[in-house]
Amino acid sequence: MTKLPFFLIFTHFFFLLQVVSADFSSGVDLTWGGERAKVSENGRLLQLSLDKVSGAGFQSKQEYLFGKIDMQIKVVPGNSAGTVTAYYLSSQGPMHDEIDFEFLGNASGEPYILHTNVYTQGKGNREQQFYLCFSVDGTPIRVFRNVEGLGVPYPKNQPMRLYSSLWCAEEWATRGGLIKTDWTQAPFTASYRNFGSDACMWLAGKSSCSSSKGRWWDQGLDSEGEKKLKWRAKVSENGLLLQLSPDKVSGAGFQSKQEYLFGKINMQINSASTVTAYYQSSQGPMLDEIDFEFLGNASGEPYMLYTNVYTQGKGNREQQFYLWTEREFLQISE
Ligand SMILES: *[C@@H]1O[C@H](CO)[C@@H](O)[C@H](O)[C@H]1NC(C)=O
Ligand SMILES: *[C@@H]1O[C@H](CO)[C@@H](O)[C@H](O)[C@H]1NC(C)=O
Repeated sequence: MTKLPFFLIFTHFFFLLQVVSADFSSGVDLTWGGERAKVSENGRLLQLSLDKVSGAGFQSKQEYLFGKIDMQIKVVPGNSAGTVTAYYLSSQGPMHDEIDFEFLGNASGEPYILHTNVYTQGKGNREQQFYLCFSVDGTPIRVFRNVEGLGVPYPKNQPMRLYSSLWCAEEWATRGGLIKTDWTQAPFTASYRNFGSDACMWLAGKSSCSSSKGRWWDQGLDSEGEKKLKWRAKVSENGLLLQLSPDKVSGAGFQSKQEYLFGKINMQINSASTVTAYYQSSQGPMLDEIDFEFLGNASGEPYMLYTNVYTQGKGNREQQFYLWTEREFLQISE
């Protein structure tokens, strides 16, 4: 028997006005899937199910400009391979803002992947993925800082609605599509409880926010939260990355004359090539190794910084970062 993980997701923007504990009957519209989306227990429980014919989805009645939105989500238990439970906030139109959480199912006992992305003004490409091997209740997963000063748009002007859906993506979701959905287990069900919003609601084209002080928008991540953020799990294998082939003609390399046991090593790298690997390594099959690989890109497109750490010959600790100007991604020390 697999344990049913209960993931508590806090989606924080800023600001709140009122604590609204919305019951699902009054807080959301069931938008598709017919009978596969249903509210019960006097509005306290919402369930979506997926069968061979269709999935299902719902959306919040309210739009929010900023806020704190709470939801308890119980993702599909057992063999959930090929299923995707999407939970996201989005505004409308081609220049939309969007904050995505997608739970990619897996075979029984194998870890879910939480796939996240942030769109601002229609531009995404800010994927980060996390293995969910254990409960993440109360664990901050991702921070998207406001660095408008560096030219990165921030989602602060367009009201968003909350959406969630359960659907099938067996062509790509689980191990890149290798593991298909086992329809003998259908219908698959995801459950939702304790929907709550502390938010600046968007009403009649205006955001209504309180001006009172000392609310949660004055809080930052405390040091405990910062520490938890560093768990950051492992970023999954990115198909694109694994397909990169080395330069057909030749590369070049150098190594230090010295070996170091511990230390601080400085280097300025001005990357002009396709893959710049910068790493420290010991020798032999049980080697320790610290890798930084800078994967080049077309002009104006972000570099990808690919990192890994081997200890005693064992790696699998990949983390990837887009090197926009978002300095948060550079906080990768462990
Ligand atoms: C499923 O489990 C396998 C094996 O542990 C892992 O490689 C994969 O990334 C997991 N998640 C998904 C969504 O494929
Ligand atoms: C290059 O830019 C594209 C488009 O922004 C992005 O999808 C890709 O991940 C970037 N990095 C690499 C290494 O391809």
